[in-house]
Amino acid sequence: MKTIGILNGPNLNRLGKREPEIYGNETLHDLEKDLKGIANSIDCSLIFFQSNNEGELIDKIYELADAGCNGLIFNPAAYTHTSIALRDTISGCGLPTIEVHISNIHNRETFRHSSMLAPVCIGSIAGLGLKGYTYALQHLASL
Ligand code: DQA
Repeated sequence: MKTIGILNGPNLNRLGKREPEIYGNETLHDLEKDLKGIANSIDCSLIFFQSNNEGELIDKIYELADAGCNGLIFNPAAYTHTSIALRDTISGCGLPTIEVHISNIHNRETFRHSSMLAPVCIGSIAGLGLKGYTYALQHLASL
């Protein structure tokens, strides 16, 4: 059985309340429930983690890597556009990682158009809403 880490960065604990016209009405809890259902049907186990702190995300990624996790789905939120530290973590942790964004970062403000992390991920999904996490999970499970 594969174990996949689902990591969400800053402000994503506010899903459902935060700018619903951009991020929708579903909460992080709804997302986790949906993903658990899918994971059961494809024989995967999931570990969820959300933090508003860069260092906590870094520590969790190494913890998952050392525990033998098989891959990561990561929405780094605003850290996407700024964090060399998280990029170094992803490139050094050895885990295949898919970057997911709920919104289409490419048709929003120009500061959101670039991702520090995309070049060290195996792929990126943006703009497909919460479905992006499902597609990423299906892909990681198939590797
Ligand atoms: C986001 C896009 C980021 O630009 C933003 O800072 C977020 C959420 C998304 O899922 O669309 O917090 O990662």
